[in-house]
Amino acid sequence: MAYDDSLSFLHFAPTRVVFGAGALSEAGLELDRLGVSRAVIVTDAVIAEKTDLVAKLKASLGARCAGVFAGAVPDSGLHIVDAGAAAARQAGADSLVSLGGGSAIDTAKGMAVVLTEGGSLIDHQGFQNLTRRQTPHVSIPTTHGTGSEVTRYAVIKDHEERHKLLFGDFHLIPDVAILDPALTVGMPPVIAAGTTLDALTHAIEGAHSLQRNPIADALAIHAVRLIRRWLPRAMSAPRDLAARGQLLLASTMAGTAFDNAQVGLVHAIAHSVGARHGVHHGLANAIALPHVIRFNAPDAADVYAELARAAGVTAATSDEEATEALAVDVAAVAKAAGLPSRYRDVGVPESDLEAIAELAITDGSIVYNPRMAMDPALVLEVLRAAW
Ligand SMILES: [Fe+2]
Repeated sequence: MAYDDSLSFLHFAPTRVVFGAGALSEAGLELDRLGVSRAVIVTDAVIAEKTDLVAKLKASLGARCAGVFAGAVPDSGLHIVDAGAAAARQAGADSLVSLGGGSAIDTAKGMAVVLTEGGSLIDHQGFQNLTRRQTPHVSIPTTHGTGSEVTRYAVIKDHEERHKLLFGDFHLIPDVAILDPALTVGMPPVIAAGTTLDALTHAIEGAHSLQRNPIADALAIHAVRLIRRWLPRAMSAPRDLAARGQLLLASTMAGTAFDNAQVGLVHAIAHSVGARHGVHHGLANAIALPHVIRFNAPDAADVYAELARAAGVTAATSDEEATEALAVDVAAVAKAAGLPSRYRDVGVPESDLEAIAELAITDGSIVYNPRMAMDPALVLEVLRAAW
């Protein structure tokens, strides 16, 4: 992971991070610190109806709670964001507290924009279009994977067009991330595994990105180390708060890493597979990851060798051997966590691979891939290996 004297970069990580078991109770004080007093909680129906987390959050917010919008769903759509913003406006909200996985946090990011800028979220699509601070947002992840609590991105599905819209802007980055390991213990094992593999993919793609930088590298390398060390423990002992906490930190570190460095071909494929076939984002990443590592090997073996060492894969002698060892290792990690390893096993028909490849080359992530991949024939080669 060498750099020469042409190195120049911008690294931006403005989110205040509050970590600890029980940190959920800090939410009200964080709103005070932001100077706001009427927050709408943004969450999903499962968290609202099947857990006591909203009640605990309400207790922390007290009179600062202006309402609850529990309409976020996996792959939240434009209409949900607009409906949430309308409800929050009706409630007189001056701030948002998101509680949930990436979809709840991304829904709140979209709502923050509509609350501040007006109109519909679709009016604000694109990158770095916003010119001012958006509605204050405290994010509280209940999964360890997306990193959305610290990133400038929101993925919102356009259900009519069957594709995912990516919003990216410094002004979308949440003001605060409350990382409370106790909130993650209830995750079903397949979600815990899938979201953690998403975080692992963020770390690896951040590290091999054409836009990598040494600060992001440090976060990415340590995230890989933590995930390799703690994921097996979290799977075998789901209520182990130490393991959960380390995975939550890894997810946030990987989030900051890729927020600055960007991701690559794995995400381009995962976004496309997710949009066309509804495959869980982390699972879609996990399946593609080892094959993309092999595809990128000619241009990123030195990076992969460094990551392999962080992952504890030490037997290899050359960068090329270490790269292959890393590809084998990440596949083994996903398998041990109970995830399927082939797209054919998650409902992707072989007949759709060409269409997925065509969609993937239009994904913004692909331009940061270390090996040029903007050719559907090349993406198809990776997809066939992963199918
Ligand atoms: Fe991701």
